[in-house]
Amino acid sequence: MKALITGITGQDGSYLAEHLLSLGYEVHGLVRRVALEDPERRFTRINHLLDRIQLHAASLESYPSLFAVVSRHAFDECYHLAAQSFVAESFADGFSTMNTNINGTHYMLAALRELRPQCRFYFAGSSEMFGLVRETPQQETTPFHPRSPYGISKVAGFELTRNYREAYGLFAASGILFNHEGPRRGFEFVTRKITSTVARIKAGQASQLRLGNLDARRDWGHAKDYVRAMRLMLQQNAPEDFVVATGESHTVREFCELAFAEVDLDYRSYVRVDEQFLRPAEVGSLIGDASKARSVLGWEPTCTFPELVREMVQNDLKLVLGQTAEPSTANAGARVPVLEAGGNTD
Ligand code: NAP
Ligand code: GDD
Repeated sequence: MKALITGITGQDGSYLAEHLLSLGYEVHGLVRRVALEDPERRFTRINHLLDRIQLHAASLESYPSLFAVVSRHAFDECYHLAAQSFVAESFADGFSTMNTNINGTHYMLAALRELRPQCRFYFAGSSEMFGLVRETPQQETTPFHPRSPYGISKVAGFELTRNYREAYGLFAASGILFNHEGPRRGFEFVTRKITSTVARIKAGQASQLRLGNLDARRDWGHAKDYVRAMRLMLQQNAPEDFVVATGESHTVREFCELAFAEVDLDYRSYVRVDEQFLRPAEVGSLIGDASKARSVLGWEPTCTFPELVREMVQNDLKLVLGQTAEPSTANAGARVPVLEAGGNTD
């Protein structure tokens, strides 16, 4: 099997590449030209895989560049993960988020329809599409009410995927994945921001952690578990959409409590609310019902919430101490980035 992964340098792309390689796939990745020119910094999550995968330079903003990559290999499966994925950044620059996420998805679908109509397509949909939730827990039939340019772009990608399935008969499926994390998570997302700062506080390199809405509630799972579900969706007889979630939700405050407790500290002594991290429109609470994925795909999450928090904190402690840690930041050594308001650490 020959698979193309867009967004292979991201958290999910790196775990998915490992998963597919372990199953004997030939794995190809689509990367930005700028990444190829700066591998030291841009390939930190896939450095350990570089001799086993093939990378192709293309731009999500350019149909001809995507067309050229798709024309070169007879891909059996395409996992379209590339996106501007940080919700806060989508408020700062909604236009480029829309451009990358909506047009990029449309271009991929159009190129596959033209050149590889037999190639199966996975779209990285998101629980952010539920936004101001209409029911709890959220399932495949729950109406969407996105609350951010990012959420809107994902609803558009989801609808494009459904339309290519219905209009042109493509095997095109969307996963509606709830938040999933791990030691390779980007530093701008709240879980990694917390665990990396906990590690720096423990090492005496920081004295406080500034966050926005501590009462936001998320259904947090482990990315390693979630990439398995992506592949399973493309092995079915017919293309369908699936919610992937743990069915358990926790507040940001609870995440802090556990993360600080992991290093014997009390979060209340270090966490400060800073209004600059509040969003213009917040998604207050998400919790998924993954019954369909469990029964149809036979998918189950394996990592519990306390195990997730522990793994992330322990990994960041190793990083701060300069020890070998997960590939996400292996080159960063002890230099864990400090976050700026709404900014991407990139
Ligand atoms: P991530 O770590 O932010 O990775 C995003 C990937 O997209 C990176 O490889 C990035 O490449 C690439 N990318 C961004 N803009 C691009 C552009 N203009 N052209 C080409 N590539 C571009 O995200 P993730 O957590 O792995 O998530 C993977 C996908 O699942 C995303 O579509 C995200 O929206 C979606 N999703 C994630 C979650 C979650 O909780 N993680 C939940 C639901 C849905 P560079 O390395 O070059 O920046
Ligand atoms: N990033 C961040 N930084 N979030 C904070 C902070 C902070 O300082 N303080 C509180 N939060 C709250 C956010 O307001 C949000 O309610 C929650 O923590 C989670 O924020 P993120 O970790 O940035 O993730 P997200 O839920 O907005 O988006 C992630 O999950 C989506 C799936 O629901 C991303 O991975 C998206 O790409 C993904 O689609």
